[in-house]
Amino acid sequence: MKYRFKDNFWFGCAESAAQIEGFSAENSKAPSTWDHAFATQRHRFFHQHGPDDSRGFWQNYQADIKLMQKVGINSYRTSVSWARLMPDGYTINEASAAVYRDMLVHLKEAGIEPVITLMHFDMPLIMQQKGGWLSEEVVDAFAGYARQCFALFGDLVNNWITFNEPIVPIEGGYLYDFHYPFQRNFANAAQAAFNTQLAHSKVVNYFHDRNCAGRIGIVLNLTPSYPRSTHPADVHAATIADLFFNKSFLEPALNGRYPQALVDLLRQYGELPDVTPQNLDIIARSRVDMLGVNYYQPRRVQAKQTAISPSSPFMPDWFFDSYEMPGRTMNTSRGWEIHPQGIYDILTDLRLNYGNIPVFISENGMGVENEERWMENGEVNDQYRIDFMRQHLACIHQAVSEGSNCFGYHCWTFIDNWSWLNAYKNRYGLFRLDLSTQRRLPKASAKWYGELIKNNGFN
Ligand code: BG6
Repeated sequence: MKYRFKDNFWFGCAESAAQIEGFSAENSKAPSTWDHAFATQRHRFFHQHGPDDSRGFWQNYQADIKLMQKVGINSYRTSVSWARLMPDGYTINEASAAVYRDMLVHLKEAGIEPVITLMHFDMPLIMQQKGGWLSEEVVDAFAGYARQCFALFGDLVNNWITFNEPIVPIEGGYLYDFHYPFQRNFANAAQAAFNTQLAHSKVVNYFHDRNCAGRIGIVLNLTPSYPRSTHPADVHAATIADLFFNKSFLEPALNGRYPQALVDLLRQYGELPDVTPQNLDIIARSRVDMLGVNYYQPRRVQAKQTAISPSSPFMPDWFFDSYEMPGRTMNTSRGWEIHPQGIYDILTDLRLNYGNIPVFISENGMGVENEERWMENGEVNDQYRIDFMRQHLACIHQAVSEGSNCFGYHCWTFIDNWSWLNAYKNRYGLFRLDLSTQRRLPKASAKWYGELIKNNGFN
């Protein structure tokens, strides 16, 4: 077999609580930021589908886990909903805790290793009303919630993730208006980013200080920044994009400190957040045991082409322009470039420059609009997704054969799921979700992935 992986390699799938659970008010679940966003700004959601239109995993997990077992995945990442487990942010809801425990027991019994994310974009609304990531009270409340999760589920979970893609709620919520709380304010973005890192570090330090069983990490969406040319201005632009969107979380998570070049740049423009030496110390001694990498597409960067108006507010894009790679292969329906080599470049960078930290690909997949176009005899024939996954897995295999410490691959997603403002616009699943009947229909990729897992590789 051309691409054979080692025996204990994870072949799994990833999802998140708000995107699959539904039943938004059951067991006294409190409204989360995304429940609130939908309740107040419904028109912004694709075809007005909200979190309650998800596939109802909260009540269907037993059947869905059976499907996972049938495909043969050996690991599965999902998140706990803080608003469901602790509706007021502090007090455990025993009924919800019991459901999460049962879900984890079912995964274990099915031979599927649970990987649990503590924060995948959605926080209790009451915490957002206290200031969200701008508030240190919320940072401490999050650390308390994490401690409770370790106590409640630590005997069933060996792999913990603090945050999924922490940069995304910062970009979306405080710079580009696609995540709650839909602001455009760099000072808040910088403070929320710092406090998110602090929350992560407090949880990691607790986990290590208490010798909690298992390992803890963070999931980052790393987007390699490729300069348009070797011209120093293009290279500089790509370096700055990399600092803002990759290294701002990668370096503190792995090295315990921020990149000096980012600190210098923010200082130069008077945009440094408020930090204390004590908080920097907390970050300095927190190192993750493993890293999850979400990879979808690279960032193509060139030097800024137009002058910035002196009155425009500070933004990362003051320093670079993005461009579309001529002749690129593209996921036409998503508008994203398909560049499997990016995953190889990330893994190689981690091997060479970050101590070859244990890493797994925590999300990779292809979102397709109007996927019913490819329906044949009741099944979506998603050869494009098979090609996408195969190409990325071949690059992972190459990186591993050169010494990368990559130990797994999680495809996004198992069943089509609800995706924030995009709702069901881009279907990613190995199974199609029929929204009117809630039936789960295997796509061709589900069978292909199952075969790959059985053979531990592919040709
Ligand atoms: C990832 C997120 O970045 O992208 C997921 O972790 C999200 O939560 C996924 O659903 C796909 O996003 P979209 O916008 O293509 O549906």
